[in-house]
Amino acid sequence: MSIREKVGVDVGGTLIKAAIHTENDWIYQSFPISQIDDVAGWLTKHSDHRSLCLTGGKASLLQSKMSRSDIYFAPEFLASCNGARYLLTMQQTNTLTDFILTNVGTGTSMNLIKGETQQWIGGTGVGGGTIMGLSRLLTGIHDYDRLVKLAASGRRDTVDLTVANIYEGETPPIPGDLTASNFGGLMGQPSTPSSVDQLASVIGLVAETVASLSVFAAKNAHVDHAVYIGSSFVDNSQLSKIVESYSNYCGITPIILHHGQFCGAIGAALEV
Ligand SMILES: Nc1ncnc2c1ncn2[C@@H]1O[C@H](COP(=O)(O)OP(=O)(O)OP(=O)(O)O)[C@@H](O)[C@H]1O
Ligand SMILES: [Mg+2]
Repeated sequence: MSIREKVGVDVGGTLIKAAIHTENDWIYQSFPISQIDDVAGWLTKHSDHRSLCLTGGKASLLQSKMSRSDIYFAPEFLASCNGARYLLTMQQTNTLTDFILTNVGTGTSMNLIKGETQQWIGGTGVGGGTIMGLSRLLTGIHDYDRLVKLAASGRRDTVDLTVANIYEGETPPIPGDLTASNFGGLMGQPSTPSSVDQLASVIGLVAETVASLSVFAAKNAHVDHAVYIGSSFVDNSQLSKIVESYSNYCGITPIILHHGQFCGAIGAALEV
């Protein structure tokens, strides 16, 4: 592939995302961080005549593997906020100006975006890396595609405890199908739930944690939308569904951005 125009690369803890701006479109690529040497070679070969901007926690590591000296850098949160603004403008008829941006990467970060301003407001270590790590610990499965496919057929009710489970026939003060305790249903269970059910519950734990924090952040900041990005949503419809339904339940409109995993890379490309 030949790279034209400008290139943004987001070098994260797990994946390297590249966004290549061509004359009238974007080309997207992602690679595991374990292939950083190959990516350095690929970029050196294909981007030497184009502007190149790096972002993400491992941007300097990638730069150190390249011979090129004219590499730009963009701060990670600024790049992902600008990339999200850009994708929203492309994808929404009424462009949102004020929202919480939740990036579910290896870890999860949240920024408050109001107009032209953005501010990091916190995050959680519970994120995509938690899906990978806990799934591996519990089931031995470490292949992302395999684990999200398997999780889709899992049942959380063998692992998690709902509000209705606790109220046992009484009328609960909040909807009975809300989770009362992630993994709390294992107490007193005679048998261990299947691996597939455990995987589904790991995704439930991450989804409910990031959605809860985003909802609290949105209400605290008086905004009514939460925009979710990050590779954790790639092919993971279960994560998306739970995040959407919990956010909606709490009165915050969720938007899971198409191509949202490339926000950082797009934002970096837009800097040059
Ligand atoms: N092919 C894949 N291999 C591994 N993980 C994947 C893959 N596709 C999606 N994921 C999920 O995406 C997560 C990484 O998301 P993302 O690429 O946004 O993070 P990152 O930018 O590398 O990390 P951070 O921003 O925290 O430094 C993984 O933890 C995993 O849950
Ligand atoms: Mg990232």
